[in-house]
Amino acid sequence: MFSHLPRAPLERLRLPWLAQARIDCAILRLDLIDPLISGNKGFKLQEPLRLARATGAPGLISLGGNHSNHLHALAAAGRRFGFATAGLLRGHPQDTPTVRDLQAFGMHLHWLGYAGYRARHQADFWQPWQDRYPGWHCIAEGGAGEQGMAGCALIVEQARGQLAQIGWPDYHAWWLAVGSGTTLAGLVRAEQGAHPVHGALALPADHGVAQTVQALVGGAGYHLHDACRGGFARVDDALLAFIEASERASQVPLEAVYTGKALLALREQVEAGRFAPGTRLIFVHTGGLQGRRGYV
Ligand SMILES: Cc1ncc(COP(=O)(O)O)c(C=O)c1O
Repeated sequence: MFSHLPRAPLERLRLPWLAQARIDCAILRLDLIDPLISGNKGFKLQEPLRLARATGAPGLISLGGNHSNHLHALAAAGRRFGFATAGLLRGHPQDTPTVRDLQAFGMHLHWLGYAGYRARHQADFWQPWQDRYPGWHCIAEGGAGEQGMAGCALIVEQARGQLAQIGWPDYHAWWLAVGSGTTLAGLVRAEQGAHPVHGALALPADHGVAQTVQALVGGAGYHLHDACRGGFARVDDALLAFIEASERASQVPLEAVYTGKALLALREQVEAGRFAPGTRLIFVHTGGLQGRRGYV
């Protein structure tokens, strides 16, 4: 584990539609903390890695799809910090850039099929894996839940520590992409109501994210916005054109599953007048750029 998680730079984000609405936006570049263990995953894996070390676990097991940013970061962290890793994958064997990296990092891969993967929420799901890998630390899909959340308070700390450098006395709200809702919940807990956290949903609303966040931190201190554009990881031409234009204007790389959709949802809200002129927003770049290889 990182003994000191590298600091994610906080930078001004300059885009024409932000300037037009007189919204000040800064972007917290979690994508830059590390070439491999990057984005919100670096923060979400902190506590599971600490626990694995503290309990003498020989390895860590988790779940994901064949483009999973979470498994990618976990496999890289295992290799770097001396843990074995196992990945339980959705579907049937496929050769994607992410899967090739997982293999190169030495992760043991098990393909569960689709029905097998759907069983991941059942109470007895982990038992056979715990029998097969005794003493290994099991991490929920996407690093979700309390353990994943624990490391995310540091995101707030890192941003606050850099406000003076960009000439801000304070900020008004956060904006970030949401999958499981864990990172958002971590920010909400750290904020304790001081600043609202806006989450742009990468999954359809009926996937239970609101319930997950509610269970973690209750119902206050955040707002969830639909941003998934018809489905998780569904990509359309308008989104790709928006990403390309945003990258050209801001020099910040984005991907289409999380950060690109989150920024587009922010533009929609800004253009609808959701934020008053003069609002200072922190957009969290949650990383995921390795996943771009899957669709570019
Ligand atoms: C790049 C990226 N951004 C955002 C998220 C969403 O994070 P969370 O599951 O904590 O809501 C994920 C993972 O799910 C991700 O890989």
